[in-house]
Amino acid sequence: MTTLLPNGPATPAIVQTLQWIISPISLMEACAKQYGDIFTLKLDEPIVFVSHPQALQQILTRDTQDLEAPGEPLFEPLLGTQSVITLSGQPHWRQRQLLMPPFHGERMRTYGEVIAKVTQEIISQWQPNIPFCVRTAMQAITLRVIMQAVFGLYDSPRAQKIEEILSLILDANGSSVLRAFMLYFPILQKDLGPLSPWGTFLRRREQVKKLIYEEIQQRQKQNDPSRTDVLSLLLTARDENDQPMTQQQLHDELITLLIAGHETTATALTWALYWIHKLPAVRKKLLQEIGQLGNNLDHNSIAKLPYLNAVCCETLRIYPVGMVTFPRIVKTPISMCGYQLPTGTTVMGCIYLTHHREDLYPQPKQFRPERFLEKQFSPYEYLPFGGGVKRCIGMAFAQFEMKVVLANILSRWELALTDNRDVQPKRRGLVTGPNRSIQMVVKSQRQVDFLSLHSVGG
Ligand code: HEM
Repeated sequence: MTTLLPNGPATPAIVQTLQWIISPISLMEACAKQYGDIFTLKLDEPIVFVSHPQALQQILTRDTQDLEAPGEPLFEPLLGTQSVITLSGQPHWRQRQLLMPPFHGERMRTYGEVIAKVTQEIISQWQPNIPFCVRTAMQAITLRVIMQAVFGLYDSPRAQKIEEILSLILDANGSSVLRAFMLYFPILQKDLGPLSPWGTFLRRREQVKKLIYEEIQQRQKQNDPSRTDVLSLLLTARDENDQPMTQQQLHDELITLLIAGHETTATALTWALYWIHKLPAVRKKLLQEIGQLGNNLDHNSIAKLPYLNAVCCETLRIYPVGMVTFPRIVKTPISMCGYQLPTGTTVMGCIYLTHHREDLYPQPKQFRPERFLEKQFSPYEYLPFGGGVKRCIGMAFAQFEMKVVLANILSRWELALTDNRDVQPKRRGLVTGPNRSIQMVVKSQRQVDFLSLHSVGG
């Protein structure tokens, strides 16, 4: 047993940081090939990456004893200091307890209708034979869905303005690498006027902040007990000392949910549509399964479809939207994969590498939903939503949303990719997404009995 940090590349920290920003997947794959289940990268500080299920279990089950989950300062400019993502310790735990009830599995029924309605609103704008960018369409759906889940049914100009500015902040077509550079190198966070990248960001951020505070204040005054949206639930939530959230806490959590809750799911949906239309056998099987529901696309039945579930799981396995978990810090020395990690070591669970282990997922580069029908994976073998004290709060919501959106799209339109070129994953800000725009066209609108088995094309 050695007390040195696990091996890793000998190149200077700045080189590794640049590689981590520009091509994280090839860097991780090269390291896994050379060093195995555990290695150290020199980023801002040395970070230990692990992809062995046993080590992941240690990180994710002992993250309140031997390890702790620090707040993530990278996100402070975007989310504020009181966000569940930027907080640590007891304040983090308290905010999580207050935030989780609106995202509990049982509440999904409430959101099903909103998701189906928004999907129909957006996809009804598609025109036969006119190509559209899948990511832009999915982002439009998920942003509107999360806006409605958070603020409730709205027709207010304020909510529309928030939606508009948020999509500019997370501009789907903006330079994702530039975004990552600005987050990783605080030195680039300079306000050089309204036209500079950071200056533009700050001004938009201030606009959204003002609008969200106005909404909170108005809701506090109105106090309508019949509302069931997330903001209304958070306004009435109380901690164990019977204390409500402050306005700043409310604001920081709302913006966190709006941001964490739409770009991630939009990316996952984009990949899912790509795979479904790239692989005719997958599409055929899925259409047959959805067809069995007939014309009644009930959300609860959609959520239980086994093959649709397997397609969503495989989508998040092969290119997980979050490549790594948030970091954990060793509090008391811990042995992991043959190393004794000293106090203070930063460790991250490597979701991407775990999902690409040959021993768990034979031929890992192949998209094969059947894996999830043949075998049940443990939460340390399959973890697209992380785990432990930082496990994704929107997990049930995102899984449900993916299924309802896909079933609604596939049952209404027959779509095709505009070309059959392969798409690879690449960094987009802090998440991974497609390396180029995926374009699709509508071939035809499905007829009422569109999904009867004999009419399903290959
Ligand atoms: C496919 C969609 C999504 C994926 C792949 C995803 C993935 C993740 C991952 C990997 C983490 C880090 C977990 C860890 O470090 O252990 C996380 C955290 C989080 N996610 Fe998601 N997420 C998705 C959708 C959502 C949605 C829809 C919401 C909100 C409605 C959301 C809210 C959050 C929040 C608030 C956290 C931080 C939790 C904490 O710090 O305690 N996510 N997510």
